[in-house]
Amino acid sequence: MMHSFTEKRMMILWSLCLIFSLSYLVVVFPSPVKPLCRPDQRDALWEFKSEFYVDSLDGTYVETKPWSWRNNTDCCSWDGISCDHNTGMVDVLDLWGSPLSGPLRSNSSLFRLQNLQSLYLGSQNLSGIIPESVDNLKYLRVLSLTSCNFFGKIPSSLGNLSYLKELDLSGNEFTGELPDSLGNLKQLSKLNLATTNIGGNFPRQLLNLSELTWINLESSQFKGMLPSNMSSLLKLEYFDISGNSFSGSIPSTLLAIPSLIHLRMRRNKFSGPLEIGNISSPSRFKTLYLGKNNFSGPIPGSLSNLVGLKLLDLSFWNTRGSMVDFSIFLHLKSLTFLDLSYMNTRNVVDLNLFSHLMSLRDLDLSGINLKISESIHLSSSIELLVLSSCNVFEFPEFIKNRTNLYYLDISSNQIGGQVPEWLWRLPVLRYVNISHNSFSGFQGSVDVIQGSTTQKLDISSNTFREPFPLLPTSMMYFTGSYNQFSGEIPWQICELVDLDTLVLSNNNFSGSIPRCFEKFKFSLSILHLQGNSLSGIIPEEYISDSLISLDIGGNQLSGELPKSLINCSRLKFMNMEDNKINDTFPFWLSFLPNLEILVLRSNQFHGPISFIGDSLSFPKLRIFDISANFFTGVLPSDYFAGWSVMSSVIDIVNTLPSTFAGRRLEYYHNSVGLTNKGMKMELVGSVFTMYKTIDVSGNRLEGDIPKSVGLLKELIVLNMSNNAFTYHIPPSLGNLTNLQSLDLSHNGLSGAIPPELGKLTFLAWMNFSYNGLEGPIPQGTQIQSQNSSSFAENPRLCGAPLQVTCGGEKEEEATKQEKEDEKIEEQDQVRSWIAAAIGYTSGVVCGLTISHILISYKRDWFIKIIHS
Ligand SMILES: *[C@@H]1O[C@H](CO)[C@@H](O)[C@H](O)[C@H]1NC(C)=O
Ligand SMILES: *[C@@H]1O[C@H](CO)[C@@H](O)[C@H](O)[C@H]1NC(C)=O
Ligand SMILES: *[C@@H]1O[C@H](CO)[C@@H](O)[C@H](O)[C@H]1NC(C)=O
Ligand SMILES: *[C@@H]1O[C@H](CO)[C@@H](O)[C@H](O)[C@H]1NC(C)=O
Ligand SMILES: *[C@@H]1O[C@H](CO)[C@@H](O)[C@H](O)[C@H]1NC(C)=O
Ligand SMILES: *[C@@H]1O[C@H](CO)[C@@H](O)[C@H](O)[C@H]1NC(C)=O
Ligand SMILES: *[C@@H]1O[C@H](CO)[C@@H](O)[C@H](O)[C@H]1NC(C)=O
Ligand SMILES: *[C@@H]1O[C@H](CO)[C@@H](O)[C@H](O)[C@H]1NC(C)=O
Ligand SMILES: *[C@@H]1O[C@H](CO)[C@@H](O)[C@H](O)[C@H]1NC(C)=O
Ligand SMILES: *[C@@H]1O[C@H](CO)[C@@H](O)[C@H](O)[C@H]1NC(C)=O
Ligand SMILES: *[C@@H]1O[C@H](CO)[C@@H](O)[C@H](O)[C@H]1NC(C)=O
Repeated sequence: MMHSFTEKRMMILWSLCLIFSLSYLVVVFPSPVKPLCRPDQRDALWEFKSEFYVDSLDGTYVETKPWSWRNNTDCCSWDGISCDHNTGMVDVLDLWGSPLSGPLRSNSSLFRLQNLQSLYLGSQNLSGIIPESVDNLKYLRVLSLTSCNFFGKIPSSLGNLSYLKELDLSGNEFTGELPDSLGNLKQLSKLNLATTNIGGNFPRQLLNLSELTWINLESSQFKGMLPSNMSSLLKLEYFDISGNSFSGSIPSTLLAIPSLIHLRMRRNKFSGPLEIGNISSPSRFKTLYLGKNNFSGPIPGSLSNLVGLKLLDLSFWNTRGSMVDFSIFLHLKSLTFLDLSYMNTRNVVDLNLFSHLMSLRDLDLSGINLKISESIHLSSSIELLVLSSCNVFEFPEFIKNRTNLYYLDISSNQIGGQVPEWLWRLPVLRYVNISHNSFSGFQGSVDVIQGSTTQKLDISSNTFREPFPLLPTSMMYFTGSYNQFSGEIPWQICELVDLDTLVLSNNNFSGSIPRCFEKFKFSLSILHLQGNSLSGIIPEEYISDSLISLDIGGNQLSGELPKSLINCSRLKFMNMEDNKINDTFPFWLSFLPNLEILVLRSNQFHGPISFIGDSLSFPKLRIFDISANFFTGVLPSDYFAGWSVMSSVIDIVNTLPSTFAGRRLEYYHNSVGLTNKGMKMELVGSVFTMYKTIDVSGNRLEGDIPKSVGLLKELIVLNMSNNAFTYHIPPSLGNLTNLQSLDLSHNGLSGAIPPELGKLTFLAWMNFSYNGLEGPIPQGTQIQSQNSSSFAENPRLCGAPLQVTCGGEKEEEATKQEKEDEKIEEQDQVRSWIAAAIGYTSGVVCGLTISHILISYKRDWFIKIIHS
């Protein structure tokens, strides 16, 4: 808001007049101008406040509403409250951002504020369901319950709020579908259901709401086709359904809505060719986000009619390898954002083509073969430039005087030589990704980068070698993996006290971890140093309390595991493989509430991995690899009862998604090497986040295989080979219906292979060799398709795929009876573990739900701010 000088003067005069007349009023008439809040309203507010508790560690909340309310003052003047001037009834309650904790009860005093017209409860610590009694507030015009941690069903009584104009339920974790009763909200103009987890088909009841101007269903679980006739949404201006699973084509009736200005539908499964010829007012259109769908066919030439377009995303459009007429875009002179990445076209595009777009600020042409000539007149206002995988061979010189540039990604090209010195002088540069090229060094002196404003720098997968550059203290994210740096890790890196992510893996660094790592005590959340030649011990004080991911595998580190890891309550990923760590099993790690991945493979760990009488609980663990160590002892039969994630379908929300300038940052690319189906493999990306594996092979464990292993229903890989397990294979293994790989070889197992294993349809690889197993190999397609070597060296095993045919029937009968007895005994035990496991699981579900909302909602909100 800008006021001219004269306007300001007028305002001051006016205010003076107002103050005068007010004081006059007060003097003449003793009654107050603003009505005092009514006692019943004040009491209701006061009680409402007392229904909640504060979830805040420090005392700062006392300054914030509703704790700033003072009960002996006029409640109409309380922060977040306003009253009707005539009646003194509260008509606005705005508690957005208050640290209220606890459920909203159906008998809450809130519902005594009968005249409420606007209610804002954006508070991240509320929880529970939205009570049906919400329709007591029958005069509500605005209801905003964003990010309240609500779950359960959306109450159908919302449909009784017939005056409602704005409804915002975004950022909650509801289940089910949108109630039909919402079709009664005839006045509704704005509806926000973004990141609510609501699913089902497009809610058709919305088609009855002809006042709707603004619909946001972003990042929820909707699917199916859009209704073919959407023309009843006469006033629709903003329609955002990004990040769902909608499919089919875009109904022409949607595009024909005359008032439509913003259409956002990226990250769905829309397909087919696009026909946008019938947009009824093409010049009004401002946003068209169609990227990351399955659209195919030519880019419609009629796009060039959308001359008012500011934001256009056609990324991942499948042109079926044909030529694209890029001149279509030259008419769109108002464009500020253009994403044409991964269009799979055969064109070699001259970047200069885009120089006609003078307002362009964000440009993403990744995956398109580019020709970048010497003199390029690309918009001088360019701020974000993403030219990843564009087959570029030289550093684009034209960037030199693009002084607004803050985001540069030229990764995955073939640029070699030195990174030019001038790059670091760009005044607002924050993000630089030059990874996956052939750079060998930095032009200029060793401190050339130090003067720059860069905060995130990715130079990984190049051929950089000494000297290691000095980095600016503004640096928050640095990854230099897969280069040829050697020598000690430079101590100067510890001067970067804001560093959040440090990835130096797969270089030739040697020596010990620098002493100065203590300085990272409170900042570092990702530390990856794997695949170097680091040695020495890992001192306790080097461990940052903020760590989320720690990977120091593949070095020669020795000594014990630092006990200070116990303070890393956020730790999810820990890889120590291939070192010389000599310690006992870190039982204390089970106190880490978020640990998902624990890899201790190939060290010198020793001693038992279980406590007598105390079962180990790893509620979120999904990859457990302690193979190739010297662990000993017997595992109690309920050993796996507390491993909830492996026994349920809960999927851990992946790595903290993080954005920079509205773009998703792959903050760290976790991967882990595993032995699956007898082969070493590296898990990355989505495969990696789904995997649930246990590998205890190559130790000296003995006794029975714990029967509770049958509870780990989601397990995909189980490797217990090369130990000293004895007795029978527990039939409960037959419950691991997702198992793909099972290795029990090289143990002292006896008895028969349980026939239940023959029913495991995904079990594609198994190995029972080198045991004392006996009797017939069970029937079943998977088991019969194994190589005979999987059963080798079990002298009394018979039947296909072994060449040995089975002999006497009598022997079989005997083992059968024996097995029946065992089964009964086992089932009794199992019942009690299942009870235990259920106890663990429900706690995890709640915790997860909450963190999921917090994480995903914050992210999407950020994106929105950037692009709106
Ligand atoms: C207001 O505060 C006073 C003293 O602090 C207390 O006695 C009274 O009950 C309070 N009123 C309400 C409605 O809680
Ligand atoms: C609301 O109901 C709960 C139990 O559901 C009860 O404990 C509480 O006292 C009630 N509150 C009021 C204000 O009636
Ligand atoms: C409110 O909505 C519910 C469910 O839609 C309905 O059963 C009830 O009769 C409605 N109440 C009023 C007062 O309209
Ligand atoms: C929409 O309105 C039509 C007619 O007014 C009615 O027949 C239909 O049931 C309504 N649909 C919904 C979902 O409310
Ligand atoms: C869409 O429905 C409206 C009535 O709601 C009707 O007038 C119009 O002809 C329909 N359009 C199409 C393309 O079916
Ligand atoms: C566009 O409008 C014309 C005439 O109004 C019509 O014949 C054509 O089918 C429409 N195209 C689409 C895709 O709706
Ligand atoms: C960049 O420099 C070139 C020539 O050196 C000049 O033509 C162009 O106008 C400059 N662009 C900006 C944005 O300053
Ligand atoms: C964990 O942190 C607390 C408080 O900062 C500290 O007193 C304790 O020594 C730490 N524990 C370990 C094992 O480092
Ligand atoms: C591990 O450390 C213990 C002493 O703590 C020592 O006796 C043992 O030899 C070490 N093991 C190896 C393999 O170095
Ligand atoms: C840099 O680009 C590469 C390749 O495109 C990508 O994998 C990586 O995640 C990017 N780095 C950052 C920090 O975004
Ligand atoms: C295996 O599944 C069956 C049937 O679902 C169940 O009765 C049995 O208790 C389960 N066993 C284990 C160890 O989970």
